[in-house]
Amino acid sequence: MNKRLMRQIGFQLLMLLGITIQQAIAQTRALTVDASESIAPIQPTMYGIFFEDINFAADGGLYAEMVKNRGFEFVDPMMGWQQPNSDRHSMNLESGFATAIKSKESPADQTYIQVLVNKPEGYELINEGFRGMGVESGAEYLLSFEGAKGEGEVSQVVFTLIDESGKAIGSTTVDLSGTDWKVYEASIKAKATSEKAKLKLTFKGAGIVNLDMVSLFPKDTWMGREKGLRKDLVQLLNDLDPGFLRFPGGCIVEGRTLARRYQWKKTVGPIEDREILVNRWNTEFAHRPTPDYFQSFGLGFFEYFQLAEDMGAAPMPILSCGMACQFNTAELVPMDQLDPYIQDALDLIEFANGDVSTYWGKLRSDMGHPEPFNMKYIGIGNEQWGPEYIKRFKVFEKAIKAKYPEIIIISGSGPFPDGEHFEYGMEQLSELNSEIVDEHYYRPPNWFRENADRYDSYDRNGPKIFAGEYAAQSVAIASPDNRNNWSCALSEAAFMTGLERNADVVVMTSYAPLMAHAEGWQWTPDLIWFNNLESYGTANYYVQKLFSNNRGTDLISITEEDSPLTGQSDLYASAVKDANTNELIIKVVNTSKSAQEIDLDFEGAKVASKAMSYTLRSDDPEAVNSFESPKGISPAAAEISLSKGRLRTSVPSEALVVYKVKIK
Ligand code: AHR
Repeated sequence: MNKRLMRQIGFQLLMLLGITIQQAIAQTRALTVDASESIAPIQPTMYGIFFEDINFAADGGLYAEMVKNRGFEFVDPMMGWQQPNSDRHSMNLESGFATAIKSKESPADQTYIQVLVNKPEGYELINEGFRGMGVESGAEYLLSFEGAKGEGEVSQVVFTLIDESGKAIGSTTVDLSGTDWKVYEASIKAKATSEKAKLKLTFKGAGIVNLDMVSLFPKDTWMGREKGLRKDLVQLLNDLDPGFLRFPGGCIVEGRTLARRYQWKKTVGPIEDREILVNRWNTEFAHRPTPDYFQSFGLGFFEYFQLAEDMGAAPMPILSCGMACQFNTAELVPMDQLDPYIQDALDLIEFANGDVSTYWGKLRSDMGHPEPFNMKYIGIGNEQWGPEYIKRFKVFEKAIKAKYPEIIIISGSGPFPDGEHFEYGMEQLSELNSEIVDEHYYRPPNWFRENADRYDSYDRNGPKIFAGEYAAQSVAIASPDNRNNWSCALSEAAFMTGLERNADVVVMTSYAPLMAHAEGWQWTPDLIWFNNLESYGTANYYVQKLFSNNRGTDLISITEEDSPLTGQSDLYASAVKDANTNELIIKVVNTSKSAQEIDLDFEGAKVASKAMSYTLRSDDPEAVNSFESPKGISPAAAEISLSKGRLRTSVPSEALVVYKVKIK
């Protein structure tokens, strides 16, 4: 190549490089974090969790009971139980059979079974669990049942855990004694792992034995509590460091009919006295029927309060306001018959906070918690709308405030974030000076990106906002094809910067629903998925976790040319200061397909030269976490350097990045 040509190529290369550098400089976005002023405190309740017994989240999920229909109280008392060789309709009398008897005295525990064993060891009674039972090799399982011998000589019951192929993987034999009802207890050590084990009962001796409350729990539960909660699932919740726990729902609070609403008083006291209820999600969706879904209330109000306390979360119960689900029967309690509903609310406050000398405070104490639960919030109605709700809310509010002025009452604006019902509800609740209004939005991912500025224009003197249920729907509300994909999670992250930037108005937020059994679900998307052995957090879970674990104490501003970042050129941002750790925490969401360069300047604080970044991203908007790849999309930590008090960095494409910068 001659020298002239080389010079020409060199010149062109330099030009190209110059243009690229110029472009890079031009595209670098200058952002300013102003740490000099705290715009508002970030409430400890800012990021919390919304729990509802949907998708087998309680029975079959968090509540670690492994036997389905342990008390034979389902509408079909033998649902969940199989008798493969029953000889009920045979003349051979080669095995035996069980019959459900309705005659025990407690209204909550009416049914038991009478097992007639015709031939010792010939008869098998098998419980299928919740789509099987998760059993781990080497682990211990605590068995209990109520039993009473009848006529004949049935002397022992053998309980065997069997795997999918029917092979025994652990067993225990219990001696029966006497004809009076007794509680028997034993334990089984598993010799192998199975996700779909079953519990098989066989009998020694022929004759009759009566059985009830046949129960099996892992010994290793959350905090080692006997008959407690599934450890891996609570761990995932606890890792979120939730500011509050809302329970028990959701539509489950309202019920399809008033008779089937959630009644907290029926969920406290001895387990066997808790009256079972058909779960309202049982037949809600024709495309996902779950006829075996009932609420045992083993996870009842005491346990919810205890769980909240374990996690350091504020308990937030929601009660029926005398309106059944308006998507179903929309039954109404007449205004002059609301008293029992109001009394339920007042008694709940006494149960949570009352002195042990009070009726409900004593029950709490008898259940093992003499100290109050320090409940501060109560929600009235879940997703109600229209004048009937407002009328009822007023009556509840008056009665609760008259007796407990310190309790903060949460009202609701209905199921949608806009439209006639929403407008009406917000207007009325604002006029009433409602303290906190619950808003729900199940919307497509775009809606979340486009609404990051939703609260920028809210009245600063109006009610505070609880973003109580939200999730981006990849297909449509209640579609079984909705996925917890990265596109949805990233859109939620973009929106959440808007929640955080408006922390003076938005004081509580929670994704919904929280949990789903991989085979027993009715509603998707959900934050956490599990089967009988394993569980994982979705991409959406890690978005929630990054915000919640980095909530800080004070809202500060982050701007570009004095404007908040609400999606201009695909960039969203919020910033907080953490007075406890002396850090500035900046959350940046880049929804663009390209990386974006930012140059962060800090006003009002001298910052250290080293910082941390936590990046959550994927190249594939359709990507999801799964049992096979539970942390496929999860935060990656890196140390980053600042120069002369500025952070110049590249925000990767389609990413949420949390920057944590120490104040010097
Ligand atoms: O989260 C699922 C359901 O969605 C809730 O039960 C209800 O409040 C909302 O409609």
